[in-house]
Amino acid sequence: MTDATGTVTRVPGLLYGGDYNPEQWPEEVWAEDVKLMREAGVTMVTLGVFAWARIQPGPEEWDFGWLDGLLEQLHAHGVAVDLATATASPPAWLVRSHPELLPVTADGVRLEFGSRQHYCPSSPVYRAAAVRLARALAERYGKHPAVALWHVHNEYGDHVTECFCAESAAHFRRWLGERYGGIEALNSAWGTGFWSQHYRSLGEVEPPRTAPGPVNPTQALDWRRFCSDALLECYRAEKAVLDELAPGTPVTTNFMSMFKALDYWAWAAEEDVVSDDAYPDPADPDAHVHAAMNYDLMRSLKGGAPWLLLEQAPSAVSWRPVNVPKRPGLQRLWSLQAVARGADAVMYFQWRASRAGAEKHHSALLPHRGTDSRGWRETVRFGAELRRLAPVAGGRSTAQVAIVLDWENWWALELEDHPSARMRWLDLLRPWYAALHRSGTAVDFVPPTAELDGYRVVLAPNLYLLRERTAQRLAGYAAGGGHLVCGPFSGVVDEHDHIHLGGYPAPLRETLGVVVDEFWPLPEGAATRLSLADGRQLSATRWTEWLEPHGAEAVARYDEGPLAGLPAVTRRGTAWYLGCDLGPQVAVVLGEILRTAGVTPVLAAPEGVEATVRRSPGGAEHLFLLNHTDRPIVVTLPAEWTTANDLLAPDRVPGPALTLGPLDVAVLHR
Ligand code: GAL
Ligand code: ZN
Repeated sequence: MTDATGTVTRVPGLLYGGDYNPEQWPEEVWAEDVKLMREAGVTMVTLGVFAWARIQPGPEEWDFGWLDGLLEQLHAHGVAVDLATATASPPAWLVRSHPELLPVTADGVRLEFGSRQHYCPSSPVYRAAAVRLARALAERYGKHPAVALWHVHNEYGDHVTECFCAESAAHFRRWLGERYGGIEALNSAWGTGFWSQHYRSLGEVEPPRTAPGPVNPTQALDWRRFCSDALLECYRAEKAVLDELAPGTPVTTNFMSMFKALDYWAWAAEEDVVSDDAYPDPADPDAHVHAAMNYDLMRSLKGGAPWLLLEQAPSAVSWRPVNVPKRPGLQRLWSLQAVARGADAVMYFQWRASRAGAEKHHSALLPHRGTDSRGWRETVRFGAELRRLAPVAGGRSTAQVAIVLDWENWWALELEDHPSARMRWLDLLRPWYAALHRSGTAVDFVPPTAELDGYRVVLAPNLYLLRERTAQRLAGYAAGGGHLVCGPFSGVVDEHDHIHLGGYPAPLRETLGVVVDEFWPLPEGAATRLSLADGRQLSATRWTEWLEPHGAEAVARYDEGPLAGLPAVTRRGTAWYLGCDLGPQVAVVLGEILRTAGVTPVLAAPEGVEATVRRSPGGAEHLFLLNHTDRPIVVTLPAEWTTANDLLAPDRVPGPALTLGPLDVAVLHR
């Protein structure tokens, strides 16, 4: 589905537009919408995301007339459509005739109608109704020239990631039956010898509902796996209909960045193109770093293929306690950041600001005030600018560094009753990613099953749950000369959440040349000083370990406390181990490792400037320079870029240095 013209082949260049919800407005407004879309340079809209009740007003009633007309109108005006299957918000008539499709919480509360995403993923009634709707839409519009992309459902797992009803329980048992075959295999995997939890048959098993104390951790882990799979089955059923009736049109479902509940590696494999909804918080000074991380994940999910930014806010959102708008220049900068990191679409939630409903205070491309507003002027200005970036579409990036991301590890790491509840995946990952971002180092995310040979450095900020075969792959990578860097609390349990005996990080003990005798978590506010061999001092917070070298050399040792003199960071050949949480100071250690491994940054950019390169299939190269600060910054260009022109500012004179204004961006083309 990807070629030089971009990811959605029916539309050339980068896509620009947003969610279009005409069903919230009287028809008179629609003609104005289409006219203004043209004025803004909109090339695609996402249509019908929450229009189920409008399309199917009753069990046997269908109303396609309005969609027919709109598709024609949009097509006539050169606006392509990302057509939604509209299945995320079942209508009242369906819910009232089948109340059993409403989701149930772990406490047994059935969630009411009146919001959205109110369905049980395992409900056969919901699934049949959703597939019927998708089929009706695909039969009618599967070959419609306006439809350039299909948008299945909306943000699977948003609001409701799991359901504990009887139907879901039965589905869970079927899933367990397939996974384990017999009940004794389940008993052994779940360790049911503990606390008298033995089952005689699958019929005795239930989901991990609210219980008196901690629930069986393997049961909880299997539940996470099951919930991701149950929603994926819903997606798959709709996707099959689209593949049958709309062959050749790409299909996506919009992701929610680095979202815990869904194993996006498994999901992305079943999409034609990855898409994301990104809502960095303008009040967070590190928002652009978190965003870069999420965009790198989106690019990585399909092995580097361009992805689509399907939703972002033009200015403020409406769902935080305080919703800070984007100051002038920020939405442009953050949009281009997504493009710099592989996006072939810059789309928004939503086209026209709602007048009623829960999101009426959410910003939109066309604000309440109308066209005489700052928002609208930015919408038009940016649409025109984006057209200049058409040559970027389809371009890919390369990286010398990879980060291992394993959803089942994320789930297992954050189960209850661990040595420290403060060991959270995102908290561990973010400082590592931030260190790379700050040094201008390009990075990919990889699944635990990935081929690693192309990378100079592979980072695993945490591998609490470590399968033998993943350990073997990592060990082989290090043995072959790759720099493997493992973070603390790793190699602790297997895929059933059973301890690897004999000293952690058991399956990697040999490779890393260390053994952990005991975990030594630190309470909130506590820190332990440690020194690198060259005398530089750092401090660990949150987590330390009683670590003994068995073949590894100490790169850093603790200076104080019960661990004084023991190694905190070690190295055996190209295998590195960090037995503590260094927070942002991890940058010091990672910096050393990247130097040792010969990793080169994209550009030696000044602090606050982000630099990336995208290479088009046709051979053109684009250097993105993004100034995330509120002051002008001079960037010294490498020789090969000094004669390149800036697609965003054709008049800007190229030379050895380039001045970026506050929040400004340059996209050099050669
Ligand atoms: C997304 C959702 C949209 C809209 C938006 C508001 O999560 O997909 O429908 O609710 O948030 O920020
Ligand atoms: Zn259910």
